[in-house]
Amino acid sequence: MKKKRFVFALVLCLIIDVGFAGRVVVPLLQSYEKASYSRFFSRNFGKIFDTSNYGILQLNNGLASTPQMGWNSWNFFACNISETIIKETTDALVSTGLAELGYDHVNIDDCWSSPLRDLKGQLVPDTITFPSGIKALADYVHGKGLKLGIYSDAGVFTCQVRPGSLFHEKDDAALFASWGVDYLKYDNCFNLGIEPKKRYPPMRDALNETGCSIFYSLCEWGVDDPALWAGKVGNSWRTTGDINDTWASIADINDKWASYAGPGGWNDPDMLEVGNGGMSYQEYRAHFSIWALMKAPLLIGCDVRNMTAETFEILSNKEVIAVNQDPLGVQGRKVYVSGTDNCLQVWAGPLSGHRLVVALWNRCPKAETITAQWDALGLESSTKVSVRDLWQHKQVTGDAVSSFAAQVDAHDCQMYIFTPRTVTRSVI
Ligand SMILES: *[C@@H]1O[C@H](CO)[C@@H](O)[C@H](O)[C@H]1NC(C)=O
Ligand SMILES: *[C@@H]1O[C@H](CO)[C@@H](O)[C@H](O)[C@H]1NC(C)=O
Ligand SMILES: *[C@@H]1O[C@H](CO)[C@@H](O)[C@H](O)[C@H]1NC(C)=O
Ligand SMILES: *[C@@H]1O[C@H](CO)[C@@H](O)[C@H](O)[C@H]1NC(C)=O
Repeated sequence: MKKKRFVFALVLCLIIDVGFAGRVVVPLLQSYEKASYSRFFSRNFGKIFDTSNYGILQLNNGLASTPQMGWNSWNFFACNISETIIKETTDALVSTGLAELGYDHVNIDDCWSSPLRDLKGQLVPDTITFPSGIKALADYVHGKGLKLGIYSDAGVFTCQVRPGSLFHEKDDAALFASWGVDYLKYDNCFNLGIEPKKRYPPMRDALNETGCSIFYSLCEWGVDDPALWAGKVGNSWRTTGDINDTWASIADINDKWASYAGPGGWNDPDMLEVGNGGMSYQEYRAHFSIWALMKAPLLIGCDVRNMTAETFEILSNKEVIAVNQDPLGVQGRKVYVSGTDNCLQVWAGPLSGHRLVVALWNRCPKAETITAQWDALGLESSTKVSVRDLWQHKQVTGDAVSSFAAQVDAHDCQMYIFTPRTVTRSVI
């Protein structure tokens, strides 16, 4: 019986595999270099949006052509999870419409497993909180059209002291595949002081050997600068320590590695805190805007069964999600700062169709005007752009030339798409 199920799972994932096989990575900014468009952009464009490392490292498992989206249990539930919560969350993702907007991964974090392996050395789901087992849960989640993610650790224990997968990579990967798991978050606790570069590849190889396409999310907290090597190892890699539900942002740490992100492998500044209550509406909007612009994974971290209207409004903003999921896959970055402690900031990034996303982020304690100058964005000063406001969902009246300014509330972020229209006659 068990064997039969295992074979079935293998066959299933092989079928899915065929669909993904041979997917080609989107070419790097090629369209920007075409003569017909280059006149919109200044010579500095390629310096400001350095993509010299974009797509050079690829895991080639056919996944992560855009940053992953979904939900993860940790930020809200921590260790208090159960199969009921996972199922109800799955239902809520579907009924709220979030699943349809792209949030398609339902990711279980730490605490799903029993404190000990069984006599055969296999991981066992906690019998009280996950009595039906993970295979049944995966079937349930798949039945709703979504994907199931699981969690383990590249150490001898997980952070909550459940069995880790270090030295058990093959067994555990095969078990996850037999359950139909689609995604693995792989943590970094109890790692015996062995360097990440040695501990993370064995699980990559073990997942690959299952023949199933399993998204591999490295969570080694940015130790040893994973952007420099993890593209060949995982589909995303944490660049920072754990996020928390406060205004102390870790966006700046992630920004440093912007040139390394690209289809197939993403920098990960950790999961979203939107809706968990520790920040204001403006702060959550800024958090979501900047995560989307940075091509960060959009993994919801609140209780989606019980969201406020404001939380839902932020998470369901289709135009901001589209920035994150743009097929060009270039990470936006901080391009200009001014004000006390550099708290008035312009963040921007290239999008497909020769467009730019531009965020005006006010990290100061009171409302201020923030100005984006064209030279900071890599635009020729004579380029005219139309401006769409992604939070107001409307075009800003009149095209902009040489600069664009807006009043931004304290801790808020305005987000726009600039579409180049024409270059004024004098320079042609
Ligand atoms: C396994 O790795 C090879 C080599 O990188 C790759 O071509 C293949 O698609 C991978 N298969 C899976 C299932 O990840
Ligand atoms: C959730 O679990 C944490 C420990 O991981 C505990 O401190 C907290 O009280 C629990 N919260 C609820 C709502 O049960
Ligand atoms: C939250 O994260 C920030 C940035 O990493 C850190 O400085 C701060 O101490 C953390 N706060 C708590 C309560 O953990
Ligand atoms: C729903 O969230 C509110 C806070 O937004 C909280 O007061 C309430 O207890 C939650 N309800 C449930 C059933 O969790």
